[in-house]
Amino acid sequence: MSLSVASGEIHALMGPNGAGKSTLAAVIMGHPAYRITRGRIALSGEDISLWPPDIRAKAGVFLAFQYPESIDGVSVVQFLRQAVAARKGQDDLSILEVRIAMSEWMERLGMDPSFAQRHLNQGFSGGERKRNEILQMALLEPRVAVLDETDSGLDIDALRTVGRGVNLVKESNQEMGVVVVTHYQAILEYLQPDHVHILVDGKVVASGGPELSLEVQEYGYDRWRDDGG
Ligand SMILES: Nc1ncnc2c1ncn2[C@@H]1O[C@H](COP(=O)(O)OP(=O)(O)OP(=O)(O)O)[C@@H](O)[C@H]1O
Ligand SMILES: [Mg+2]
Repeated sequence: MSLSVASGEIHALMGPNGAGKSTLAAVIMGHPAYRITRGRIALSGEDISLWPPDIRAKAGVFLAFQYPESIDGVSVVQFLRQAVAARKGQDDLSILEVRIAMSEWMERLGMDPSFAQRHLNQGFSGGERKRNEILQMALLEPRVAVLDETDSGLDIDALRTVGRGVNLVKESNQEMGVVVVTHYQAILEYLQPDHVHILVDGKVVASGGPELSLEVQEYGYDRWRDDGG
């Protein structure tokens, strides 16, 4: 497959269960379980295919996980401070600065301030984990962000908050390219993607504008399956 995301663009990636969307996200991030056998991944023209995930993250590649892991013993604020310091290449990053930015974003994302002291995703509900991923995105200011089904598991109000939250992050970081993996039109109403791609069996079978996601919403994926149409 080939996918090119220019700075500032929002791409939606849709496709049936098992199509390879999360696999693609993991490969973009450099997950060690995957080996690239063909092709390459480039960031601003530079081949990053062999870079380890932490170096990719420092360079501004971000992934909001479909199933965010919890890490016991690390508070949200500690985690974010380390991550932001690494991303900005500043060991002496002021903790106060991070705390202020964090509480501002937590408010915008409708998160209770107490979450800052809780251990990362420990006991967080599904929707709380998803918001926490967007909080990370807001603070890390990535160059390209892949959001893997950030909308799944969110209640209607949370979906609106997160949708608007992503837009706010985008406003404050306009160069950021975004790939939104989703099954649903609802989040796309907020995010207004420039391009929509359909992935089936690991291949991009269609690319187009927002009309494509409306078509998926109405008719499903039958016309793009081998046996369908
Ligand atoms: N370690 C593995 N061993 C065998 N098959 C795997 C492994 N990891 C992923 N797969 C398979 O690769 C395919 C793609 O999985 P992936 O998680 O990328 O799908 P997806 O498009 O994200 O689906 P969903 O919409 O359900 O999240 C699936 O059929 C999955 O079972
Ligand atoms: Mg997936």
